[in-house]
Amino acid sequence: MPNIAIVGAQWGDEGKGKIVDLLTAKVQVVARYNGGHNAGHTIRIGDQTFVLHLIPSGILHPGILCVMGAGMVIDPWALDKEMTELTDRGVAIDDNLVISDRAHLILPHHRALEALTEEMRGSRKIGTTQRGIGPAYEDKAGRRGVRMGDLLHPAALPERLQEGRRHYEQICRGTGREATVDWEKLAADLAHFGEILRPRIKDVSLVMHRHMAEGYSVLFEGAQATLLDIDHGTYPFVTSSSAIAGGALTGLGVPPTRLDGVIGIVKAYTTRVGSGPLPSEIGGVLEEQIRQKGSEFGASTGRPRRCGWFDAVVVRYSARVNGLDSLALTKLDVLDELPEILLCTGYRYAGELITEFPADLSVLDGCDPVYETFPGWQVPTAGTRDFAALPDSARRYVDRISDLVGAEIGIVSTGPGREDTILRSGSAVTAWFE
Ligand code: IMP
Repeated sequence: MPNIAIVGAQWGDEGKGKIVDLLTAKVQVVARYNGGHNAGHTIRIGDQTFVLHLIPSGILHPGILCVMGAGMVIDPWALDKEMTELTDRGVAIDDNLVISDRAHLILPHHRALEALTEEMRGSRKIGTTQRGIGPAYEDKAGRRGVRMGDLLHPAALPERLQEGRRHYEQICRGTGREATVDWEKLAADLAHFGEILRPRIKDVSLVMHRHMAEGYSVLFEGAQATLLDIDHGTYPFVTSSSAIAGGALTGLGVPPTRLDGVIGIVKAYTTRVGSGPLPSEIGGVLEEQIRQKGSEFGASTGRPRRCGWFDAVVVRYSARVNGLDSLALTKLDVLDELPEILLCTGYRYAGELITEFPADLSVLDGCDPVYETFPGWQVPTAGTRDFAALPDSARRYVDRISDLVGAEIGIVSTGPGREDTILRSGSAVTAWFE
């Protein structure tokens, strides 16, 4: 069976949780490779809704091995809370969850530093999730981070915290802020987490290698999305990790030759939270209507998401940097009531037509979207399970997206439940999983 990566192909919140959950039934391992509890993966099972921030969505399926990779940053308090909430709801967490000894920790001073940095940016703030993600990755790159494996050596923890502490206190002094962290208590708290988590902290590259050698197949679960990727996103309005498919390999210590395919998750329109460019942003009453119908409020922070029309320039770019074999198109039903639907096919910049996504934000700021207009179908598609049963104009819209992006649409999601899904016969997805 193949090893497949699932990535967000826009600015996040595309519905990765549902698609990972759906495909988990076909694999043995689900591995998350980037980010931290800035993510919020919502999964609806029957009348129950689960929102997972750190733990791979596979945890909701008995017998699946869930892996948290070295590319992640983990807040031990958030992890403890999530594990407790899941077990309280009857989800078994035993030897089905392993955590990389190389993953870095998010610590209280990271949250303090993030609040300070965002405040100092003023109107240029990134609009982060305030979970300490950026400063944790900064400490990692600055070679002063603390890793999950350090929790296994409690006596050495006070020393391991020193470099990060020096850096933090230097910034506090320079900005006239009070340093608020109790480092002794922190070392004791971390030692406690070490005791709880000890059996799960492993060399996950080795765990994955052994599982793949046994012929088990893996779903690589991306968090955030391509346009939020630290290298390939709309920098500086990005997160701090490698959210693209390549991140699955570096974030888990798995060689490129083991990846068999990539599915890009896209919404039938576009959303983003936080600041930064969104060329096809709708604005006004219509945007609010889509936000309400699509419940477009952050799963982690509750912030209203900005909504735009489907931007084929963005998703074609995503298809290129991720090597997307197939798209899963979600939330088509949110567009059901609209009399007309716009699809962005290019940008007009300084009199020229641009069809490749620019890196330069000043170019992007000056871009006017070029749209094709589709008649709305104005009949309910929610819950449809057969592509042929979609209204003609909805099928034309989906097919046009596929043409413009240059990738098949293997899955169409028509509602939050597992069963509200069209799996298209003859697609790469059916070839991999059926
Ligand atoms: P950070 O990841 O908290 O540093 O936030 C950086 C940017 O990424 C902000 O614009 C956030 O809103 C955005 N972001 C981070 N995680 C997610 C996510 O899971 N979905 C959507 N946006 C996210």
